Amino acid sequence: MEKSSFLCHCHVLLLLLLLLLIGPFIQQAASSSNNQKKAYIVYFGEHHGEKSVEEIKERHHSYLMYVKESEEDAKSCLLYNYKHSINAFAAILTPQQASKLSELDEVVSVIESKKYRMETTRSWEFSGVEEDKPTINDLVSRANYGKDVVIGMLDSGVWPNSKSFSDKGMGPLPKSWKGICQTGPAFQSAHCNRKIIGARYYLKGYEHHFGRLNETADYRSPCDKDGHGSHTASIAGGRRVYNVSAFGGVAWGTASGGAPWARLAIYKVCWAIPNQMKALGNVCFDTDMLAAMDDAIADGVDVLSLSIGKSEPYNYTDDGIAIGALHAVKKDIVVSCSAGNYGPTPSALSNVAPWIITVGASTVDREFYSPVILGNGLKIKGLSVAPSKLERKKMYPLVYAGDIMNPHAPRNQSGLCVAGSLSHEKAKGKIVLCFRGEGISRFAGSLEVQRSGGAGMILGNVPAVGRRPHADPHFVPATAVSYEDANVILKYIKSRTNPTATIVPPVTIYGSRPAPAMANFSSRGPNPIDPHFLKPDITAPGVDILAAWSEQDSPTKLSKYLDPRIVQYNLYSGTSMSCPHVSAAAALLRAIHPTWSQAAIRSALMTTSTTNNKSGQPITDDSTPDNSPATPFSFGSGHFRPSKAADPGLVYDSNYTDYLHYLCGLKMNSIDPSFTCPPRPLHPHDLNYPSIAVPQLRDVVRIKRTVTNVGGGGKSVYFFKSEAPPGVAVSASPNILYFNRVGERKKFTITISRKVNSSSSSRRSKKGEEYSFGWFAWSDEIHYVRSPIAVST
Ligand SMILES: *[C@@H]1O[C@H](CO)[C@@H](O)[C@H](O)[C@H]1NC(C)=O
Ligand SMILES: *[C@@H]1O[C@H](CO)[C@@H](O)[C@H](O)[C@H]1NC(C)=O
Ligand SMILES: *[C@@H]1O[C@H](CO)[C@@H](O)[C@H](O)[C@H]1NC(C)=O
Ligand SMILES: *[C@@H]1O[C@H](CO)[C@@H](O)[C@H](O)[C@H]1NC(C)=O
Ligand SMILES: *[C@@H]1O[C@H](CO)[C@@H](O)[C@H](O)[C@H]1NC(C)=O
Ligand SMILES: *[C@@H]1O[C@H](CO)[C@@H](O)[C@H](O)[C@H]1NC(C)=O
Ligand SMILES: *[C@@H]1O[C@H](CO)[C@@H](O)[C@H](O)[C@H]1NC(C)=O
Ligand SMILES: *[C@@H]1O[C@H](CO)[C@@H](O)[C@H](O)[C@H]1NC(C)=O
Repeated sequence: MEKSSFLCHCHVLLLLLLLLLIGPFIQQAASSSNNQKKAYIVYFGEHHGEKSVEEIKERHHSYLMYVKESEEDAKSCLLYNYKHSINAFAAILTPQQASKLSELDEVVSVIESKKYRMETTRSWEFSGVEEDKPTINDLVSRANYGKDVVIGMLDSGVWPNSKSFSDKGMGPLPKSWKGICQTGPAFQSAHCNRKIIGARYYLKGYEHHFGRLNETADYRSPCDKDGHGSHTASIAGGRRVYNVSAFGGVAWGTASGGAPWARLAIYKVCWAIPNQMKALGNVCFDTDMLAAMDDAIADGVDVLSLSIGKSEPYNYTDDGIAIGALHAVKKDIVVSCSAGNYGPTPSALSNVAPWIITVGASTVDREFYSPVILGNGLKIKGLSVAPSKLERKKMYPLVYAGDIMNPHAPRNQSGLCVAGSLSHEKAKGKIVLCFRGEGISRFAGSLEVQRSGGAGMILGNVPAVGRRPHADPHFVPATAVSYEDANVILKYIKSRTNPTATIVPPVTIYGSRPAPAMANFSSRGPNPIDPHFLKPDITAPGVDILAAWSEQDSPTKLSKYLDPRIVQYNLYSGTSMSCPHVSAAAALLRAIHPTWSQAAIRSALMTTSTTNNKSGQPITDDSTPDNSPATPFSFGSGHFRPSKAADPGLVYDSNYTDYLHYLCGLKMNSIDPSFTCPPRPLHPHDLNYPSIAVPQLRDVVRIKRTVTNVGGGGKSVYFFKSEAPPGVAVSASPNILYFNRVGERKKFTITISRKVNSSSSSRRSKKGEEYSFGWFAWSDEIHYVRSPIAVST
């Protein structure tokens, strides 16, 4: 079996730039040649009739025999039989064999295996947060802490020894649970408990691509060596752990999962990317993920949480996550996925299928405040989680890195504190002002200051790396300041003969920053696959989230050689972190309303979300230079409010069959070949979704929707309200809905029309440039069922 180089897919791995401390090792290599054998998913749709696993395997084998020379050949090329819900197998084929199979009638599609990655930020954002505790608390207790709901996590595994995964006080396993506990290095059967009720791992697709797993770099077991999987699992379903602190100092607060009594089922599908020098992060293959999803569906999970995505869009029929999710949704499993960290570029969104909840990331109001005090008395705002070893009240000599460089250090890197650039003699015992450089790790500077004997560091932002300074666990006492403030400090240094400063040890403060505000990195709409759907759907906390970590990885993700620290909890940012918040909320809703469908749960979360921040003003967008209001292309319906979602009043429901009708309209009906499309398929915008997007509105569109009454009272009257996007008119017919009982459905039509004399001419919109936004809502004065509208004209 050949071993392909991961380098040929490095566009997928671009985020790993964050680890660039080591240097520019990522190179673009030519794509592998066409004759190479690759992993393919040969997809048949659903299983029909009660077939035994043996029968299914036999049947899949007969297809392989059709293209392979021998029994041995057919057996050895097989990676997986997907045997529960999903009828497919994964095998190593030549392109010719793949195409030969795809011509067979029964074969729905043959999909080439693709790499995905975990959605932590490109730049490993690291600065202030947490979830909305006071509001979520009511819901958590109403849902009995999510007791007996099972959340399936597809990720890099779990660090089972974390306090977050203790099963103290938890009751016996849910009777319906069918999962297993797979063991291996660092993961024994005792690591499964009443919290981690299942654990499995999948790496055949990975090993086909990279060759055998390097067991120094990762565990061949559900144990997490990366940290990411433990982090996401503890966000979704970790126990409450109080007074969590790390890096020997800053008391960060409570680490708690959204659904602390929910059960976790771990499906390890993401593995260390092999590299001699450095763990490069993880990669996940759809062949492996599909096997995990097939098992998870059969095991009996209620929610699937995938903080995994990709940078380029794939059609639903080509996207392993979308296909697996549709099978899950057929069993009414809620699938919550990260939107991706490719913002603020428009349309670089992952996981946009309308049967998935697509989650963006926003800030919370917590900051790790660690100001600088200058010799002239000026106090400057700084952010940090680095432990302070500075003497209290002592003022230290302050120098600018650019003034204390080694003679041979490259001049064009002046002030960046790159490795080896500082003079030991001139830095010793001083606080050094460094600037961030593009493509240089935020830890490079503090490592260099540490190496050169400096007492501390002030890290100044530069415009190219974004506006926000990051609170980081630096190696020396250090704090991060804005570009403007860094220049104030520089000016002070230049103006004095003996400049001095000190860094105040970090404290956690709340309410000092705009929150929620959309993270710069959070992926934006419009939807690249089907612009008739507004994506992402919702936003949740995803910046500086405090959660469990693997004790096998350093908090900075630098190699152990550079960063030997071990932490139980870590701060991490990305849509990877926001997704499990929504998964937890979905689990709580499932616990409170066991009869609600996956779509009802998504609808409840979306229509009750808010577009306002804590002070009741529009949520702002961190990617804009002047903190302009964010749009539904970054937050979807808004910031989730789980406590409100338990009582949404009305829901927009849809089921598996509705999604198939939708796919018929896109001529992508192949996901379930047993389904016959009607002669007049559904127009994509008529799928009953809680938001509306209209690309390229010409004159008028009429969009059908149905709401189901889930309000407690039964009898109710809802009135239509709206704010039309500029240049268009919005109306509903009827515009009053009368309900007599719970469960009753009412249809209505939304008409969206161009104003005859709207100023926008006939220019066609591209990539969201000319979208405008509005909303409509149904209200009975108690509930407010709100949906965003995006229109391009
Ligand atoms: C395996 O991983 C370790 C640690 O990441 C690394 O030092 C070693 O070189 C790797 N071995 C091979 C054969 O790649
Ligand atoms: C957390 O720390 C605070 C202050 O140090 C203390 O008052 C509190 O009792 C601690 N809580 C727990 C659960 O240990
Ligand atoms: C998706 O499929 C459609 C129709 O089959 C095709 O036109 C389009 O280019 C595909 N898009 C992507 C991103 O592959
Ligand atoms: C500095 O210059 C060297 C060679 O002249 C170049 O390779 C390097 O990329 C430059 N670095 C920066 C930060 O401009
Ligand atoms: C947002 O991130 C990009 C890098 O992706 C950066 O160039 C830009 O300056 C950032 N914007 C702000 C306002 O931070
Ligand atoms: C809320 O947003 C407004 C701008 O829309 C901003 O001025 C304000 O500081 C924000 N407040 C909070 C608490 O985020
Ligand atoms: C799915 O919903 C449609 C209405 O949208 C309904 O006619 C159909 O019976 C539902 N199917 C299932 C399997 O619930
Ligand atoms: C366009 O609208 C303006 C008011 O908004 C009105 O005064 C004008 O007559 C309209 N023009 C046409 C051509 O309808």
